[in-house]
Amino acid sequence: MYRQFGAAVTVILTTLTALAVMTATASASTEVDNIAHRGGASFAPENTIAACALAQVQGADTCEFDIQQTKDHHLVLIHDQTLNRTTDVEDVFPGRSPWRVSDFTLAEIRRLDAGSWFSPRYRGERVPTLEQALRATSNSRIGLLLEIKHFPANRDIDRLVAAELEDTRPWWSNKRLAVQAFDWQSMRTFHSLMPHIPIALLGKPPTDRLPELAEYAKGISLPHKDLTAEYVDAVHRQGMYVYSGTANRPTVLRRLISYGVDGIMTNRPDHLDAIKREAW
Ligand code: G3P
Ligand code: CA
Repeated sequence: MYRQFGAAVTVILTTLTALAVMTATASASTEVDNIAHRGGASFAPENTIAACALAQVQGADTCEFDIQQTKDHHLVLIHDQTLNRTTDVEDVFPGRSPWRVSDFTLAEIRRLDAGSWFSPRYRGERVPTLEQALRATSNSRIGLLLEIKHFPANRDIDRLVAAELEDTRPWWSNKRLAVQAFDWQSMRTFHSLMPHIPIALLGKPPTDRLPELAEYAKGISLPHKDLTAEYVDAVHRQGMYVYSGTANRPTVLRRLISYGVDGIMTNRPDHLDAIKREAW
């Protein structure tokens, strides 16, 4: 009789443990920030307002955009240092190779089609300015994660971004908005310019540097292949959040959620939304 009782206790404890893990993962998954990488690059042309609008419909909580500056110091959303992968610049300006973003004025970039390369359905979609993206999303619930690209030609981009965010504050002050970058020193500078805007550092700082970085950063954003539950715990102990770099497959998304990450960048916000809904 005692043996049967012991077996029953084991079954109950195992079940309760499994339920506890599922509940923990489930509760974690409902909180994880669904971040559409480059606005959601799988279903629409990356870094466009159309992509972010679609990502929001698919369940994204935040759109991540890449910021660069034009030759005449305007801020536009584009990932590559050159325009030719994601626009028709080679057709419009055939003699301007290598078609660097920093070699074109805003007026010239505004002439480009940033949608047809992805699908004829998006013909006429433009390279947005940061201001246009802030205005377009100002009345929506969608948060913004703005990555500043510190390429050599973008020398004073931190100051330009800070000035633009100051000028457009009414459009974003009631929403989640954060800035991220690979250049941690530049982010320290940005923090001094805009101390109230949360900053995430891209990369995997050694844990012994986390206390120093926590003086001005609110989060660490790193590739999912570099992520472990232990590292997430170490970052959380400094009061910072952890964003995972781009992950799309449900198996990877679930693993990242089980680590306790606070946000996941994804080109498939629909996948992450479905996993979050399982928990409800
Ligand atoms: O992992 C974050 C991501 O935005 C940085 O990489 O090249 O897609 O801008 P990338
Ligand atoms: Ca980015």
